[in-house]
Amino acid sequence: MSIILMEGIVKTYQPNNVLANAGIDLELEEGKIHAIVGENGAGKTTLMKILYGEEQPDSGRIFIDNEKVNIPSPLVANRLGLGMVHQEFQLFPSLTTAQNIVLGAEPRKGGLFYDNKKADEIIKDISVKYSLQIEPKAIINRMTVGQKQRVEILKMLYRGARILILDEPTSVLVEQEIEALFKTLKKLADSGHTIVFITHKLGEVKTVSDIVFIMKSGRMVACRDTESVTKEDICSLMVGRRSEFFISKSPIQPGKVVLTVNNLRILEKGVKQPVLDAVTFQIRKGEIFGIAGVAGNGQADLVEALFGLRKISSGEISISGKIISGNNPKSIRACGVAYVPAERTARGSAGQACLWENIVVSNTARFKKRLFLDIPAIKLFCDDKVRSYAIKAENTSMKANTLSGGNLQKLVLSREFDGYPEFLIIEEPTRGLDVKSADFVYDRILDMRESGCAILIISSDLNEIISLSDFIGVMYRGEITIIFDNDQELSSYEIGEYMMGVRTGKVKN
Ligand SMILES: Nc1ncnc2c1ncn2[C@@H]1O[C@H](COP(=O)(O)OP(=O)(O)O)[C@@H](O)[C@H]1O
Ligand SMILES: [Mg+2]
Repeated sequence: MSIILMEGIVKTYQPNNVLANAGIDLELEEGKIHAIVGENGAGKTTLMKILYGEEQPDSGRIFIDNEKVNIPSPLVANRLGLGMVHQEFQLFPSLTTAQNIVLGAEPRKGGLFYDNKKADEIIKDISVKYSLQIEPKAIINRMTVGQKQRVEILKMLYRGARILILDEPTSVLVEQEIEALFKTLKKLADSGHTIVFITHKLGEVKTVSDIVFIMKSGRMVACRDTESVTKEDICSLMVGRRSEFFISKSPIQPGKVVLTVNNLRILEKGVKQPVLDAVTFQIRKGEIFGIAGVAGNGQADLVEALFGLRKISSGEISISGKIISGNNPKSIRACGVAYVPAERTARGSAGQACLWENIVVSNTARFKKRLFLDIPAIKLFCDDKVRSYAIKAENTSMKANTLSGGNLQKLVLSREFDGYPEFLIIEEPTRGLDVKSADFVYDRILDMRESGCAILIISSDLNEIISLSDFIGVMYRGEITIIFDNDQELSSYEIGEYMMGVRTGKVKN
């Protein structure tokens, strides 16, 4: 039976104009354990804060037991039977367990004085009832995280919560504590409580939940009986993009070597650990080389070195046999290198300039008519780009900073992909894009590959790297520690181990 119904919940955060919840429906069943999963920023916490009265939705309705309710504050939420345990605990560290639990609703002797004994008794009772072991007189700041969490849960139960919301409760716990928590949740559910918990860990979803909700980019993309889905199903719904199994990539017929990077090193004065250390690889015509790694392991530095934005200490970079290391970006561009940077607003485009200026900026020579630019020709050319890249814009004279993220990225691609570059560098190709724009970007990248371009992709989205690349290198502390062929057997777990430095392909002496 449905106990909670949230309908059409919309929430925009004013300061940054982020649409955190874009019209969400959610139904909770009495006595069931619900898991909410989704990538960072999907809007999970926001949705739960709205249910708990901590945030107000722009629009949408909430029903409890089929009755429409307003939840202007957590206090009202408590009265309605809702309780929430936050990621950051809200306990007073110098008070006892008992004092924290009864705070705001203390039992009183003769209606006046705080009744210590009564408080201890009540707490003992509930802690026995739900087998949540707790010492009423213990001071909070001497407790483990698991114990503090138990106090938070008891506090909510004391306030009469029938519906308990937990925001990533396991992220702070160790294995044994997680097991204990799950036992508690099951017990609570058996006694008729309704549980919702947010998690990143799909194993937990399978172990403990009855129903799983999957959120992505402010939307609810799926609700399933946990039994009926596999971890892989949940994962692909969560990521919401084509995974490697869906991207249809033609087998490569690698051509001649385009990019050669040989023993590249960047050292920084006074820093022992090299920024880049002995980086060596090649990319051939029609190949995509993906570099995976945790941000900050040298990927960005490598890209800057390749595009002439950063001085190298030693080593060599060449394009089709011609050495380009030491050249400036302009002459590197002239050698057929194109670059789609991660920072599309700061680096990839000029916000104050209009669309057509952004499109032809690196290509003005082509539109010179004696001394002047052939503006009509430029506009025709740009109109065509806007059409073929499905950029949503009224005309090409509008400023680039009025475009949405997805459209701006398409604009940058339309410029960089023009004129068949020999070698293409793409950083974070789809970061912050919606699924449709991301798909479009993937298709264009694969078109470039088909046309024989050698492509380097750097992305923090491992799924994306695996989906697109023909071979994959992992960067860890300035080195490419391993290069894999991207065949069927390659797993993200394996790559992950290299990303975290748990495994390394090199023996260092
Ligand atoms: N108080 C806030 N002010 C502005 N933006 C916020 C605030 N809280 C969350 N956001 C933004 O709203 C989006 C959703 O955030 P959140 O609900 O915390 O997601 P999740 O819990 O799924 O990681 C994110 O883009 C986040 O940056
Ligand atoms: Mg969150």
